Amino acid sequence: MRPGARSPLLEAVFELKSAWIAVFVFSMAVNFLMLAPTIYMMQVSDRVMTSRNMMTLLMLSLLALAVFAVMGVLEWARSRVLVRLGVRLDRRIGARLLSLSHRFEVEKLGDSRRLLSDLTHLRTFLTGYAIFALLDAPWVPIFLVVTVMLHPLLAAVSLGGTIVMVILTYITERAVRTPLADSNNSAAETSQFVATNMRHGEIIEAMGMFPMMLQRWQKKQDRYLVQQAIASDRAGMVQGVTKFVRMTNQALAMGVGGFLFLQSDVSPAIVFAASLLSSRISQPIESLMMTWSQLGTASESWKRIDDALRYVDQQYSGVTLPAPTGEVTLEGVFGGPPGISAPFVQSVNLKIPAGVIVAIVGSSASGKSTLVRLITGVWAPRVGTVRLDGADLRTWPREQLGPYIGYLPQDVELFEGTVAENIARLGALDSERVIAAARAAGVHEMVLQMADGYGTQVGANGAFLSGGQRQRVALARAMYGDPPLLVLDEPNANLDEAGELALDAALQQAKQRGQTVIIVSHRPIAIRNCDLILVMQDGQVLLYGPREQVMAKLAAAAAAAKN
Ligand SMILES: Nc1ncnc2c1ncn2[C@@H]1O[C@H](COP(=O)(O)OP(=O)(O)OP(=O)(O)O)[C@@H](O)[C@H]1O
Ligand SMILES: [Mg+2]
Repeated sequence: MRPGARSPLLEAVFELKSAWIAVFVFSMAVNFLMLAPTIYMMQVSDRVMTSRNMMTLLMLSLLALAVFAVMGVLEWARSRVLVRLGVRLDRRIGARLLSLSHRFEVEKLGDSRRLLSDLTHLRTFLTGYAIFALLDAPWVPIFLVVTVMLHPLLAAVSLGGTIVMVILTYITERAVRTPLADSNNSAAETSQFVATNMRHGEIIEAMGMFPMMLQRWQKKQDRYLVQQAIASDRAGMVQGVTKFVRMTNQALAMGVGGFLFLQSDVSPAIVFAASLLSSRISQPIESLMMTWSQLGTASESWKRIDDALRYVDQQYSGVTLPAPTGEVTLEGVFGGPPGISAPFVQSVNLKIPAGVIVAIVGSSASGKSTLVRLITGVWAPRVGTVRLDGADLRTWPREQLGPYIGYLPQDVELFEGTVAENIARLGALDSERVIAAARAAGVHEMVLQMADGYGTQVGANGAFLSGGQRQRVALARAMYGDPPLLVLDEPNANLDEAGELALDAALQQAKQRGQTVIIVSHRPIAIRNCDLILVMQDGQVLLYGPREQVMAKLAAAAAAAKN
């Protein structure tokens, strides 16, 4: 992250200066025209009441009507411009925020999931009630000046009332800020709890875990409710006081108007004008107060988005490297899950020549999956370099590197969509390539047997498929486009014998095509046909070499352990 001086979000929001100038001008005009009811009332009182002229009344009323219509149109235009500014902002930074969410998720940089909902908050704020309060508040001085022109005493009373309101606004904001932030955080936490845990419906059902789930949810929900109640209580109290101040203020203005009428020979209209103007002064301030909470939420969203937008993407040379042959080199690599202080995999140096099959074996939690994540570049090494055909993985833009790598993770993870879409990695559907990949993975026949063949929906995370089907579709996805490097993390965990034989044949064919295959497995069948074996132990490479040599060493070690 770069703590730059300029706010990228500010730049994005105010990119269209002319639109904001229009909003400003419309706000100014609308607020000036707000004087119309006061002027109308005074004119009616001064001219019509004294002259008793119907024509004057009619003309004045028509004029007032025209002014109100113009005001309505301006207000409408202002809101239209704001709506479009909101849409434009979304279009400008929405995709960037999704890509940042993805980046933060991969690199475990803080809360990645909120960015898009933050953008929605900000956009609805831009088009909602709160922004109008903000836009109208600066024009309060207009009404103050007119009040001074009527009588300074009236202005003093209104101003006094307004100052009290401003102070109340400040107190509300201070009192509500912390509980409101807490309650917003709790709300996000609760809804995330529901979203993530309710997905495991089968487990909850099978083992009758619902009451326990409910208990946990209730705890979170209670905390949220308490915090929200605190925030609302405080806001409600201050709002009550505000209402009292406003009513008093308005009545006081009228009273002072009456007093002035009795004291001197001003027009009786002053009594009503005083009250109207005083409410014109206090109303925008009150609206602003009512929307403080929205302002708070919007400013939090603003800060999170602004911070995220300061993230600097890695720069690439602009030179497109040729397609790799599949030679993998690890030089002094230390690495592990992002966000964890000590790298689990340590000091790995190895070279995997292009076109061989390497089996990675080792006990559970020895670091096999971590190592293959480092090889595919899912996790960047903390120290050292991972190279594909001599080029550091980090110098490769991911969308160029991706097609050269076939990766089957240990947790299969399919995307919602059809079998064909999953095999094609969500790209444009090219039947030939999809079928070629399915054939290469030995799953073409299996897919044809499915209800809708290649058009079969796999469901969220592949839920509509069997475990073995999921794994085999994912294998076809890894093999799509004959990537020079195939990395398979326990590809046979869910396979029956036929599936395993198909996998074995697929790997042999891949080797024949010159693809490098790295396979993590516990099963003998994977080791039977590999060229090299790598044994992991406690995050380090224990043995690495040609199959026979490693097997012999393992056998010797086992014999030694027996004696
Ligand atoms: N995302 C993660 N966050 C934190 N720790 C992790 C993460 N993934 C793995 N680890 C830790 O790293 C260590 C190595 O895990 P790894 O998944 O590489 O083992 P493995 O050899 O693949 O085991 P298995 O055969 O069970 O798949 C383990 O101690 C594990 O707890
Ligand atoms: Mg693993």
